[in-house]
Amino acid sequence: MNKLENKVAVITGANSGIGLATAKLYLEEGAKVVVSGRRQEALDEVAKDLKGDFITVLADVSKPEDNLRLIQEATNHYGKIDILFLNAGVAPVLPVSDVTEAHYDEIFNINTKGPILAIKEALPHINDGGSILFTNSIVHQKGFDGLGVYSASKGALRAYARVLTSEVKSRGIRVNSIAPGPIETPLYGKMGLPEDVVDEMGKGFAAAVPLGRFGKSEEIANAALFLTSEEAAFINGVELEIDGGLSQI
Ligand SMILES: NC(=O)c1ccc[n+]([C@@H]2O[C@H](COP(=O)([O-])OP(=O)(O)OC[C@H]3O[C@@H](n4cnc5c(N)ncnc54)[C@H](OP(=O)(O)O)[C@@H]3O)[C@@H](O)[C@H]2O)c1
Repeated sequence: MNKLENKVAVITGANSGIGLATAKLYLEEGAKVVVSGRRQEALDEVAKDLKGDFITVLADVSKPEDNLRLIQEATNHYGKIDILFLNAGVAPVLPVSDVTEAHYDEIFNINTKGPILAIKEALPHINDGGSILFTNSIVHQKGFDGLGVYSASKGALRAYARVLTSEVKSRGIRVNSIAPGPIETPLYGKMGLPEDVVDEMGKGFAAAVPLGRFGKSEEIANAALFLTSEEAAFINGVELEIDGGLSQI
């Protein structure tokens, strides 16, 4: 229950799904957690249930000034940062023939530019030996219809993580990624698709997963804890698929 005792963790997209499950687990493991999201009402709601040493910070990761303020508020409150978990993301669906500039900008600004700018702001404040974790996805390993721009945004992040791994090596900062397969989170309700289409898509995903089901946010949180804890002290630069085997068949 103390794998992250006295560690300071900043989590983006922490009011929902994978980010929220990880915030809960980190707090249980003794971390001080900066719970960040883009909607104040959602942050207020989750703050009622979270237990432990945490603050909430309103920050839209697509905005450079918000990334700066997120890191400033985190360090003003807790000093240095040990874990930066870049988890916020969106996955609106559009076939390649319907892609618009707005669709591209929304996805890349949140999924790719956001983490890149948050890292730039955070690096001077991350303790040597600290940990940076991305929430990536298996979508850049397999083609899923309608997820072209989303997949490209995550593929770009994977490439960025490799360079980052090298550039922070002198400070002993570990850089890893988790790549979930289909996980039961509110993400699917935000894809801009009718409910029946989401239901059908869900059945298709579940059937394609060798373990025959969606994963749970808590199952991703367990991996996020492992990769950012001392137990993973020699694991660096990897992307861990947590997908019931979907990416491997
Ligand atoms: N669920 C899956 O099957 C799956 C699979 C692979 C990868 N992922 C990745 O997992 C991550 C977490 O997604 P999830 O499934 O847990 O979905 P989720 O419950 O919708 O969580 C996404 C979080 O990111 C936040 N967010 C979105 N845009 C933001 C912005 N501009 N600034 C700050 N926060 C923002 C969301 O805020 P709001 O509540 O305001 O929307 C929410 O808190 C994402 O990076 C996603 O790409 C998910």
